This record gives sequence, C-alpha cells and structure tokens, in this order.
Amino acid sequence: MKQRTVIITGSNSGIGKAATQKFAGEGHTVIMACRSLEKSRPVRDQIAKESGNNRVYLEELDMGSFESIRTFCSNFHEKYKDLDVLIHNAAYFNHGAPYKQSPDGIEITFATNVAGPFLMTMLLRDLLAQSDDARILHAGSNIIKHFLNPKKEIDFDHLQKEPADPRSHSVYINYRNSKMALLMLTFRLAKELADSGIKTYSIQINGATMSKDALMKVKPHWRLIARIQNLFFRPPEFTADLYYKICTSDRYNKTTGAHFNHKLEIMKPARVGAGIITDIKQGFGADVYPAYALNEIVSEKVWNTCNELTLFHKQQEKRSVF
Ligand SMILES: NC(=O)c1ccc[n+]([C@@H]2O[C@H](COP(=O)([O-])OP(=O)(O)OC[C@H]3O[C@@H](n4cnc5c(N)ncnc54)[C@H](OP(=O)(O)O)[C@@H]3O)[C@@H](O)[C@H]2O)c1
Repeated sequence: MKQRTVIITGSNSGIGKAATQKFAGEGHTVIMACRSLEKSRPVRDQIAKESGNNRVYLEELDMGSFESIRTFCSNFHEKYKDLDVLIHNAAYFNHGAPYKQSPDGIEITFATNVAGPFLMTMLLRDLLAQSDDARILHAGSNIIKHFLNPKKEIDFDHLQKEPADPRSHSVYINYRNSKMALLMLTFRLAKELADSGIKTYSIQINGATMSKDALMKVKPHWRLIARIQNLFFRPPEFTADLYYKICTSDRYNKTTGAHFNHKLEIMKPARVGAGIITDIKQGFGADVYPAYALNEIVSEKVWNTCNELTLFHKQQEKRSVF
C-alpha cells in the first residue's frame, strides 16, 4: 500500500490514540494534532517505539481556537508539505458542564466539533488537493438518532449567547446537534471538494470504551452512565480499525459523501412517516441516519454559519480582490 501522510486530531487518547497506533504500525506518516504537548509527548514516544515507525510526529492544536487552527495549518504547510488523510477525531463532550464559549466567543461544543474542523479542512484543502487519493473523515456518533424525532432541531440561537435560563443549557444536546451539523458538513464538503478530488466520509460510532482521563471530564452522574456503558462498548481499537479501512481501502476510492456504520455499510436516510414498526426498526438499527441530515435549509445554514464564524468567506473575498 502507498505510504500516506495522515493528521489525526485528538490522538493522545481513546480512538484517536488507537488510530495513530494502527496507521503508524502500518508504516504511514502520522501527525498527532493534540492540545497538550506535555500530556501527548509520552503517548507519541510510546507509539513510535512500539511501531518502530519514526515518522510519528506531534504538533500542538486546540480545535476550539481558530487562532490555534490557523497557526497549526500555517506551520503544517511549512513543515510537512503533503497531506493525504485528515481525520477529525477530537471532540468536546464534557457532559454536565456549564455553558462555555471558545476564545472566539462561540459555544464550545460547536466551535470544537463543527466550526474548527470546517476551518481546518478549508486551510488544508490545497495540500489535500495535491494528493492522488485525499480523504477526510469525520467522527460521528449514534447520538444523532435523536433526530429521527421530527421535533428535534439544531439550535443556532445560542452559538454566541448563553441561554437566558442556564438550566436549558445541556452539553449533551449541544453535542447531539454538533454531530448532526458535522454529518451535514460531510455531505456538503463532498460536493464542494469534488472538483479537487478530495473525498469526505463520516463514521457513526455507536460507542467505544472511554479512558479514565475521558471519564474524568464529565460530571459524576454522566461518569456513572459512561462506566456502565463501558461494560458493553467495544475497545477503541475496533473503531480505529474502521477509521483505517475507510481512509486507506481501495474499495472507497471512488466514494464520497458517505456515512458509514460499524459494519462499514453506507447508511441511508431514514424513511419518514412509514409507520410505527418502521420507526422502531430504524431507531434500533444501524442502517439509516435521520432524514434531517438532508434538510437543505438547515445544511445551508450550517455551511454559512461555519463560514461566518470562522470568517473564512472574508478571507476568500480578500484573496480574490488582491
Ligand atoms: N467513546 C464513545 O463512546 C464515542 C461514541 C460516539 C462518538 N465518539 C466520538 O469519537 C471521537 C473520539 O472520542 P473518544 O471516545 O476517543 O474520546 P477521548 O478519549 O476523550 O478522546 C477525545 C480526544 O479529543 C481531544 N480533544 C478534545 N477537545 C480538544 C480540542 N479542543 N483540541 C484538540 N483536541 C481535543 C482530547 O484531548 P485531551 O486529552 O487534551 O482532552 C482527546 O484526545 C470523538 O469525536 C467522539 O465524539 C465517541
């Protein structure tokens, strides 16, 4: 297999760490993009040693900060020059935490899980476009199943202002919304990037055992739920292996805008109004995603919101003027 250059965000723990082990073990060049160099350095060293691959690099990146993303991408252009695979694995899901904004004044879940990946993709797409088989993967979640209920919607009203009643804030709901917005971005980017040959995918993760470190980020009652879930979830290596197959297998080199399940089947939109039996089957199954993901008005709003929050469209306008 051709050797690839791969960026994996949030790769110091969990699925991202397991994915780094997999890519490094198979001889690819991996750039671990992590927010704490201190915490991540021993992880990098351990992976490099165990895989015998000295092309495992560590770079600083805070996905919740546009300045950090811009600095990372600028340095990446200088230092690495080529890129084949970009895996947006990092995510904010500190369930139970109070409303918080990123340094750019954006609700932290949306900033980290949606706007950040959008900006990073846009700033690296020139390098990806030079690859003969560029692939972008978004880490999705089965939490989006909530949108099978037609009453659920993405809340755009509190992206830059705290809800008047703090009790109506929930990281769980914001996380659910962010993963739906990320799926919408997967579909939209597939169209936007088609001409440059860059393919985009998303994977619906049903669960992976959470590390001790990850468990400590959520509030105690969420931690208890996560500990119970851990008894049933597969280890992170299972999902890491799916990341690897999606990003390297020849089977998908003509596919873009695909949302995969844990069996690597391409999921389809759910049927709406097909009756209660179908609704129950769809809710429990892993074959379909909510039809809401194809809502053109909301998808457009996600796209425009990402452009506006990151000021990416302004940067493009400036480029075309000068
Ligand atoms: N585990 C599950 O059951 C499950 C289910 C569905 C979807 N997923 C998705 O799978 C992906 C990986 O999750 P995981 O289970 O492996 O969790 P994890 O072990 O907590 O890993 C999350 C990683 O993201 C990093 N991260 C968080 N905020 C960041 C930021 N602002 N900048 C850079 N890195 C940041 C964390 O770094 P720090 O160590 O510095 O915090 C950590 O390395 C996520 O996208 C998650 O939404 C997981």
